[in-house]
This record gives sequence, C-alpha cells and structure tokens, in this order.
Amino acid sequence: MPTSRRLIVGNWKMHGLQADLAGAKAVAEVADTVDLEVAICVPATLIERMRRTVDGSTVSVGGQDLHSGVSGPFTGDISAAMLVDAGAGMVIAGHSERRAAYGENDAQVAVKARAAVGGGLVPIICVGETAAERDADRTLAVIHRQVVDCVPSDLASAAIILAYEPVWAIGHGVTPSLDEIAAAHATLRGALNSIHGDLCRSVPLLFGGSVDAGNVSKVMALRDVNGVLVGGASLDASNFISLLHAADTRRIAHVDRE
Ligand code: PGA
Repeated sequence: MPTSRRLIVGNWKMHGLQADLAGAKAVAEVADTVDLEVAICVPATLIERMRRTVDGSTVSVGGQDLHSGVSGPFTGDISAAMLVDAGAGMVIAGHSERRAAYGENDAQVAVKARAAVGGGLVPIICVGETAAERDADRTLAVIHRQVVDCVPSDLASAAIILAYEPVWAIGHGVTPSLDEIAAAHATLRGALNSIHGDLCRSVPLLFGGSVDAGNVSKVMALRDVNGVLVGGASLDASNFISLLHAADTRRIAHVDRE
C-alpha cells in the first residue's frame, strides 16, 4: 500500500466498541475474495484488537489522526510510532471534521503527513471545499491550493494517499455529480504533477462523501478515482460488504470522462 489495486478505506470515526469487531471479521473474509485493497481506520482504542481480528487477511488497519511529534507532554495525543506499535499501517491526516472541530490547518496537516511518513505510516491526506467555497465557484482553486499546502515537497517520493472529500457531502447523503468528481480529481492529479512531477503519478486518489453500495461503482469507474473513503456506510458490516461487492474492480468498466 499504496498499490495499483483500487482501495476502499472505511472510516469508523468515533464509532466502534469491542463488540463491533465480529462484523469486521466478516468484512475481512469478503475482502480476500474481491479485487480490491481494503483498509479500516478505527478509533485508537480498537487498533490493536482490529489488527488481531483481521490478521491473516489482506485488510489493513489505520488510525484517524496523529500528533506531529514523536513523544512529549501532549496529553491525549498519539504519535505515529504509537499507531505503528498498535498495528496501524496508515493514518488519516487533515480530515475535515478535525479541521472544523480543532481548527487544523493545511500547514499542520502537512507536518502531520510528514510525521506519519517518518514514523512508517501511509498518510491519507484529506482535502475538500466547504459549501461556501463551492457556492462561490472556488472548488477547484481551493483543492489545488490545499494539495500544494498539504503535500510537502519532501514527500513527493513517499507512499502517500490523497483523499478528496467535499465537506458539504460528508455524512449528508449527497455527492457531487460524476463530472464534478472527475474534474476535482483531475485537478488533484494536475496539482500533484505540477508541484512534485512524475514522482507523484502513482499517488492513489480517493473520493469520500456519502459513498455507499448504490453509488460506489459509478464513482470508482471515473478515470482519476483510485478508490473511496467511506464513513457511514462502513459502520455496519453488511452494508460495507455490499459496498465491497459493488466496488469489485472485476465488475466495473473503466470510464474515461475526459
Ligand atoms: P461519509 O464520511 O461516507 O459518512 O460521508 C466520509 C468521511 O468522512 O471520510
């Protein structure tokens, strides 16, 4: 990971107790039968137990945030090394819910991404416009700038993942049109290439924002979409399993929308 296979990442957010791991076992069994990479980003309290639950399967386990430091007097925070120690292979950085609730900005996200890579994790760096920015027709300019500011040049050759998640679509049951998603992902790819050159060509681009079993195949068929980041539809194991079947690359014709 990152890999040439399409990637489905579940983001449990602040959901999940030990009792929910049985469903994850069922997800792991299905994940091994589809032509996809599957990861689940869980609360820090569950990383180690989730790692053991999916052991022997191809499923990766991730965290949802990290501190940029290695260790120190940061009560409540978790470092990259701690996430790795617990069994994580990746971590979300700069999710819009953290930007909104804790004021995380692009510069901080870049530092977190660097800390993740330095600690041996693959960061999933999140960008996306707010409703106000969309209404002002600034979506592409905003996400271009976010890529520039959130992906430090020294990470150009590192294993990183970029996720486009329009803030207004997350958890609201609405998604941009397929043309809008395609345009946004082309902008992300263009921003990476213009700043970091060819080295970034293999960075997987995920789309997130109310993705579910009903819409995933259309989103995944878009040219610059290499996978999806799934919140609500990853919480219930049977929903997530339906989504995995719908997203199975062997069933999706690739659509070139350019
Ligand atoms: P959602 O969340 O699928 O519930 O919209 C996606 C995310 O926030 O990563």
